[in-house]
Amino acid sequence: MSESLKDKRVLITGAAGGIGRALVIGFKNAGAKVAVADRHEQHILSSDVEADVLLPGDLADIAYTNGLCGKASEALGGLDVLVNNAGINNRGPVTQTTDEELRISLAINVEAPFRLCRSAIPIMSDNGGGAIVNVSSCWGLRPGPDHALYCMTKAAVASLTQCMGRDHAHQNIRVNAVCPNEVDTPMLRTGFEMRGFDPATAIDALDKTVPIGRVAQPEDIADVVLFLASDAARYMCGSLVEVNGGKAVG
Ligand SMILES: NC(=O)c1ccc[n+]([C@@H]2O[C@H](COP(=O)([O-])OP(=O)(O)OC[C@H]3O[C@@H](n4cnc5c(N)ncnc54)[C@H](O)[C@@H]3O)[C@@H](O)[C@H]2O)c1
Repeated sequence: MSESLKDKRVLITGAAGGIGRALVIGFKNAGAKVAVADRHEQHILSSDVEADVLLPGDLADIAYTNGLCGKASEALGGLDVLVNNAGINNRGPVTQTTDEELRISLAINVEAPFRLCRSAIPIMSDNGGGAIVNVSSCWGLRPGPDHALYCMTKAAVASLTQCMGRDHAHQNIRVNAVCPNEVDTPMLRTGFEMRGFDPATAIDALDKTVPIGRVAQPEDIADVVLFLASDAARYMCGSLVEVNGGKAVG
């Protein structure tokens, strides 16, 4: 599988986060050339990951986001793979969600992947094809409790993935999404902290709710992203791949 990723030119957003870091390591180990994007250059650098190109910026900045795939392509000499991994998790029911939370969740979780796909597709098409992997969530496929805005945005990414998977297969561009349930990353841990729980204790308790016996580690998700980006997934277009250790959303 990973042989087909050798020398591929890859752009990863949210590269300084839990899953993002595992993605950079996974693609680098597979021999890919990797451009990474995240909010702050020091976030990317402090993640002790050896990327080839650093393209820091705020995905809520429309000009930055519209230009990101072009910059990655210029720096890497082309673009074969885009991983839309950056995301934020807004918690609570709609009645407790502010306009600003609505705006920023849509900007990062929906508009940014939309814009990045829109600019990546012509670059990939001119080069004979490519693969896009979006990071959605099991919670975008079924409603998790008290995460209305997050679920809605991840559902939008899932729908976008299915539409683009269909629309761009003829250009040899495969668009798929990975849909994790809970993953042990800063996103999960800060959520526990904000609710007043000790993250380590809360994750121990959460492990017991997963049929396979533990919540996912970032590498469990990164490996599926690498598979979807590779030639091993050559006939997959518009798939939403749940990676959940057997745990349904509930
Ligand atoms: N952790 C989970 O339980 C879980 C479950 C399902 C799906 N996901 C999805 O996986 C993806 C990665 O999440 P993670 O768990 O690694 O979270 P994380 O918080 O560790 O990483 C997210 C990264 O996105 C970056 N980011 C956020 N806003 C940005 C902005 N405005 N501009 C640029 N970068 C920005 C952050 O700086 C961070 O490095 C997200 O899309 C998330 O929704 C996570």
